[in-house]
Amino acid sequence: MKVFFVFAALLCLATNVVSAGECEVCVKVMDEVRASMSKEDSKKKPEIEAAIGKYCANKGNKLSSREKKICYYIDPIKRDVAQPFSLGMPSLKVCERINKSNPEICSVKLPVKTENMEKQDISKLRVKQLKQILADRGVECVGCVEKEEFVKRVQETEHLAEDEF
Ligand SMILES: *[C@@H]1O[C@H](CO)[C@@H](O)[C@H](O)[C@H]1NC(C)=O
Repeated sequence: MKVFFVFAALLCLATNVVSAGECEVCVKVMDEVRASMSKEDSKKKPEIEAAIGKYCANKGNKLSSREKKICYYIDPIKRDVAQPFSLGMPSLKVCERINKSNPEICSVKLPVKTENMEKQDISKLRVKQLKQILADRGVECVGCVEKEEFVKRVQETEHLAEDEF
């Protein structure tokens, strides 16, 4: 019985990890565009289109390759984005809607791959993040207590990281 509950809890955790990643880069971009605007302007379609254009122009070179990829998709369809955006629809809903006509939008995900990371950089992650990476790979870290042990397990299981694309 106890085993069943542990299993159910793990399954639940795994499902959460998956859904948390849904459209995540698109959501981040929408949130950042929204944050760059006044509340008043975020209801006006032309202002929204301008804000997306400004964000995607990437002055100052702050965007990651993943954010640029989202821009590659949304910049040409600013008008379709601005419509639901102007109604105050949550970012995830906006992304799901535009994903219908551009299914690549929600497939852009943040990487959890660690194979190109130095050990010292993996060590900088929080234990919570290390646990999430392991859960994502479907592995456990039996008896692990020290952060060092989680780091080691993450390194051992790099081959289990799923391809993002
Ligand atoms: C995005 O669209 C694709 C193709 O229609 C679909 O398989 C996927 O589930 C969609 N993603 C979301 C989060 O709606």
